[in-house]
Amino acid sequence: MKTDIIRIDPENIDAAAMERAAGYIRKKELVAFPTETVYGLGGDAMDTGASKRIYSAKGRPSDNPLIIHIAQTESLYDIGTDIPEAAFDLAGAFWPGPMTLIIKKKAGVPYETTGGLDTVAVRLPSHPIARELIKKSGCFIAAPSANTSGRPSPTKASHVIEDMDGRIACIIDGGTVEIGLESTIIDLTEDIPTILRPGAITLAQVKSVTGEARMDPGLVKEDETTRPKAPGMRYRHYAPRGELTIVEGERQAVISRIQKLCEESKNAGHRTAVISSTESAKNYEGYRVFDIGALSHEEEIAHNLYDILRKLDEEDIEQIYSESFDTPNVGTAIMNRLLKAAGHRLIRV
Ligand code: TXA
Ligand code: MG
Repeated sequence: MKTDIIRIDPENIDAAAMERAAGYIRKKELVAFPTETVYGLGGDAMDTGASKRIYSAKGRPSDNPLIIHIAQTESLYDIGTDIPEAAFDLAGAFWPGPMTLIIKKKAGVPYETTGGLDTVAVRLPSHPIARELIKKSGCFIAAPSANTSGRPSPTKASHVIEDMDGRIACIIDGGTVEIGLESTIIDLTEDIPTILRPGAITLAQVKSVTGEARMDPGLVKEDETTRPKAPGMRYRHYAPRGELTIVEGERQAVISRIQKLCEESKNAGHRTAVISSTESAKNYEGYRVFDIGALSHEEEIAHNLYDILRKLDEEDIEQIYSESFDTPNVGTAIMNRLLKAAGHRLIRV
């Protein structure tokens, strides 16, 4: 399949270009498009054929449900049933934006889209291209992240092209996304609002609206007895081909340990790299250093993480040592993804 790559400026959306992209959605074809979190791989959410095409393009297990993207909060009534008041409170506070709500699904929503579940994930994105695509197509758009299953989510069009060129009808190149990590997923089908996947909207922010809220116990401790509830959080994800180890502890001790580990790895003949904060980067001179951003600007770290994880593979790095980035707000989400990428290989110093 020849993929139609359409460049659209999010600040000045060309109506004809957008119409061309929306036409593919109406024809039940797939369109990758930017959102404020990561690029999505979109298809008509109410069409079983489009959903099946999404799973096949990603190589994703069919029991892992998709998120339905809407352009106005009222559309919740078309997708969900028994919608709790908390959904509208949270929507009022954080939509449009990086938040996904899990509610009970309406009968018309195909099981192909929800991975066989009676619940459904819904998000109202803030990115102007995402919103225009939903409106122009006249469809609700089911969209997982536009990466091949298991790879880091795409944060720029070149990442999407790497994974999806030739596999889908259309890619909208709308530049680099803003946040760089997937949305916060909040399950509203239990007694207490529960975060199934941390993101830019934090637990404290959710609590400020709903009063009570908690983290999915399966996220806090990943072992056999407590599994994450979101099917997608159970899979191996984001992992680079090289071996990634996180070193955590007091700053100077972390630097010393990473220097020592790098030295040993280099002596063993391995291609070695460090993922460092801007503040510490100069301590690793002589090694390949990926400066992920300043601890004092945690949004930068979130923004750069997936791009760096992809670059590690491009450069065939074999051993990677990363500092820990447990920053005050988005740090929970950053560390959730980084720990997954490291297969939970963590050294405390
Ligand atoms: O920021 C985002 O959320 C991006 C952009 C494109 O919107 N989308 C995204 O989709 O990250 P995806 O498919 O890569 O991740 C969706 C996650 C998966 O972990 C899936 O298991 C979970 O949401 N999920 C979807 N529906 C669910 C449901 N009914 N119950 C529990 N988890 C659900
Ligand atoms: Mg994903």
